[in-house]
Amino acid sequence: MIDQREFRRALGSFATGVTVVTARGPDGVDVGVTANSFNSVSLDPPLVLWSLNKASSSLSAFLEGGHFAVHILSADQKDFSARFGSRNGVRFADLEVDRGVGGVPLLRDCTTRFQCRLAFCYDGGDHQILVGEVVEFAHQDRPPLVYHGGRFGHVHAESPDESRGPGELLRLISRVYHRLNADTQRELADNALTPESYWVLHLLGVRSPQTPDALKGKVVRGGRRLTDFHLEALRADDFIRHDASGEGFELTARGRETMVRLAAVHAASEEGALAGFDRSEVALLKQFLERLFRSIEQPDVINAPAGSEA
Ligand SMILES: Cc1cc2nc3c(=O)[nH]c(=O)nc-3n(C[C@H](O)[C@H](O)[C@H](O)COP(=O)(O)O)c2cc1C
Repeated sequence: MIDQREFRRALGSFATGVTVVTARGPDGVDVGVTANSFNSVSLDPPLVLWSLNKASSSLSAFLEGGHFAVHILSADQKDFSARFGSRNGVRFADLEVDRGVGGVPLLRDCTTRFQCRLAFCYDGGDHQILVGEVVEFAHQDRPPLVYHGGRFGHVHAESPDESRGPGELLRLISRVYHRLNADTQRELADNALTPESYWVLHLLGVRSPQTPDALKGKVVRGGRRLTDFHLEALRADDFIRHDASGEGFELTARGRETMVRLAAVHAASEEGALAGFDRSEVALLKQFLERLFRSIEQPDVINAPAGSEA
C-alpha cells in the first residue's frame, strides 16, 4: 500500500521548473493554473505535455478551449506561481496580458512561452494528461524559477572545469566584485575621481568636517593611501572645501551631489544583481561573506564605501 504523503515527498525530490498554463474557455473566460508537471515529449512533431487535476475548476476550459499556452516562470516570478497556484489565487486581476493563438492569455516576461494546440488528451488517474502541439514559442535568456521538495529555488550552474581548483574562490569573488562595481567605476571615471577620492566624499558625507589626518587614518587599504595630493585635487575641483576653522574639510554642494549620485548608482547595481534572490538568500549570502571576511581580517581595514576600490 502506497503512503500518499511519502509518495508526494518522493515525487518532490524531482527538481522541476514552474509553469503557468493559460487558456480561454469557450465562454471567453480566461483560466490559468500553476503546473510543474510540464515536460517535453517530441521534437518532430513538436509536442509537450502537462497534467491537470480532474478536480480543477479550469478543466473544461482547458479541454474545450482547444489551445493553451505554457509559460516557464523566471526566477523573479514567484508571485505568478502563487497567483495561479491556489483555489483563491487572484489570477488575472490587475494583470496585463497579450493575446495568442485562439485568444489565449499570454503572460509577460517569462523565460519561455509555448503556444499550443491541444493535440491529445489522456486519462491519467486523478489527472488528465494534456499533450499540446507547439505552434509558436518565444524564449529569452532569463534564469528560471526552480521547484524542489515543495520549495522554490534557483539554478546554481556548475563552474566550468577550468575555474575549479586552487584560487577558484578568489576568482569567483573577484568576478562578482568587478561586475558589481562596473557602473560605479564608470561614474568615478566620468567625474575624473579616484577610488580614494570617492572614499573621502563618502567619509565626509557621513561626518563633516574631518581633518586631513583623520581622513588619512581611515583611507587605508591594500596598499592604498590618501595623500595631500588627493585632497588638494578634490578641493581644486570644488568637491570639498576647508571648514570655517580652516583645519578640517567638508563637502561642497558639488561634492555632496556627486556623493549621493555615486551612492545611488552603487545601490542600483546591487539591487539589480540581487533581484533574482529572495530575502533569506541575500541574508545568508551576507552572513557567509561577513564570516569569511572576519576569518581573514587585517588590522588596517576600515569601513570603506563599497565601490571605492579599483
Ligand atoms: C508549484 C506548483 C505546481 C503545481 N503543479 C500542478 C500540476 O502540475 N497540475 C495540477 O493540476 N495542479 C498543480 N498545482 C496546483 C494548481 O496550480 C492549483 O490546484 C490550481 O491553481 C487550483 O485552481 P483550479 O481549481 O482553477 O485548478 C501546482 C501548484 C503549485 C504551487
